[in-house]
Amino acid sequence: MEQLNFKLSKRLIDVANFLPAGATFADIGSDHAYLPCYVCAQDPSATAIAGEVNQGPFDSARATVRMHGLTERITVRLGDGLDVLEQADDIKQIVIAGMGGGLIKQILADGKAKLETVYRLILQPNVNARKLRIWLHEEGFVLTAEQILEENGHIYEILVADREGTGPYEEGLLERQFLFGPYLLKNKTPVFYRKWRKEADKLRHIIGQMEQATHPDAERIDQFKQELAWMEEELSHE
Ligand SMILES: C[S@@+](CC[C@H](N)C(=O)[O-])C[C@H]1O[C@@H](n2cnc3c(N)ncnc32)[C@H](O)[C@@H]1O
Repeated sequence: MEQLNFKLSKRLIDVANFLPAGATFADIGSDHAYLPCYVCAQDPSATAIAGEVNQGPFDSARATVRMHGLTERITVRLGDGLDVLEQADDIKQIVIAGMGGGLIKQILADGKAKLETVYRLILQPNVNARKLRIWLHEEGFVLTAEQILEENGHIYEILVADREGTGPYEEGLLERQFLFGPYLLKNKTPVFYRKWRKEADKLRHIIGQMEQATHPDAERIDQFKQELAWMEEELSHE
């Protein structure tokens, strides 16, 4: 393995571990291009495109790739979301990490035409993973793995979706599985419990505030109460 002059976060190492050997992948929102450099330095058969919409991070990404002598295998491109990808790139896997679930969903939805050759998405939303699970399900991607981890006081989720595979969803449990994550729900870790204890506290506070409004939104309050009941039920198994 080539020497790297940076230490990759545990979060991005965990994301990288979902790439197969010999990956032909894109890292969208690549910032310093740390993830593609880490993967390509470890695996001489991997190639990558690092996409960045902002000039500063794009310059940093180019500098990291050059510094590690990886310009032959990592191409850094400036552009919005999947616009940086061309058919000839024949990208098989896409990584989008470190953004909100809403933004990741938007990038995928806007670039849907570019997903034709792609058979794996590795997504790491900082918030709102539910939105992404719903979108993946609606678009026919199969959620094949999930991971939850904590680093430096932050809790992160990683979602892996493939073109093929057996789906994890169960009739009647769908809404709850979208919220918690079907795999995370089946194998609840201490980090899972920490996350949902915090989320339940936040939601209790929000419901209290909403009930005090001059014109309370009864429908939304009921929906939040249902979600809080799910959280409390899951937490009671700890
Ligand atoms: C918080 S950083 C995360 C960087 C890295 N992926 C990680 O997980 O550490 C988000 C990066 O995504 C870039 N970004 C945001 N929206 C984007 C878009 N639509 N297309 C490409 N890059 C985008 C930002 O400029 C920023 O560098």
